Amino acid sequence: MKYITIALAKGRLAELSLDIFESIGLNCCEMKEKTRRLIFTDEDNKVKFVLVKAADVPTYVEYGAADIGIVGKDTLLEEARNLYEVLDLGFGTCRMVVAGPEELKDKFDTLNNKRVATKYPRIARDYFHIKKGQTIEVIKLHGSVELAPLVGLSDVIVDIVESGKTLAENGLVVFEEICKISARLIVNRVSMKMEKDRIMDIVEKVKQKI
Ligand code: PRP
Repeated sequence: MKYITIALAKGRLAELSLDIFESIGLNCCEMKEKTRRLIFTDEDNKVKFVLVKAADVPTYVEYGAADIGIVGKDTLLEEARNLYEVLDLGFGTCRMVVAGPEELKDKFDTLNNKRVATKYPRIARDYFHIKKGQTIEVIKLHGSVELAPLVGLSDVIVDIVESGKTLAENGLVVFEEICKISARLIVNRVSMKMEKDRIMDIVEKVKQKI
């Protein structure tokens, strides 16, 4: 029997995902050990788990290197890959927002050529260009995005907010909410046809646990 491969985003989402997979009877023990391995096998159920960077989960699933993936909606929107988004898992919840210094909040809409720092250029462009009909200059960053308006690199940021602590501790406030984010279960398009029964069995069992 072919292995079903499940790609998990390294970090907190992987831990929460493992709890779900354990609860439906998959063996995730190997992954709970302190190790730097990236691939783990549940021989009894013929399932493999692979640990990848969050932004790469949709890539593995689109190309069929993984049949199933669990990843945040933020990554799905940004990567815009060709795959099936099957379940909203309801954890890993946060918000995608536009945020900036309090003093800019009231005049922000009238500001021309806004400079927007973000890890999510596509989400930022789609929101400002398509939804608001405004042109922006996107400055792509890889982390610590909240720093950008503080040092004059950008006017605002587009980023995820979970507890709101990072914004608050850096003197920034939410201007607008773009969308709500949570973890999603995704499936490769071909696998959904070729391994439909096994994949839907996993999907249905996961569905009952959320
Ligand atoms: C994320 C996000 C915010 C922060 C929000 O960053 O980009 O910076 O978490 O969380 P909070 O609202 O609970 O404070 P991450 O921790 O992934 O680090 P990064 O800045 O290096 O991307």
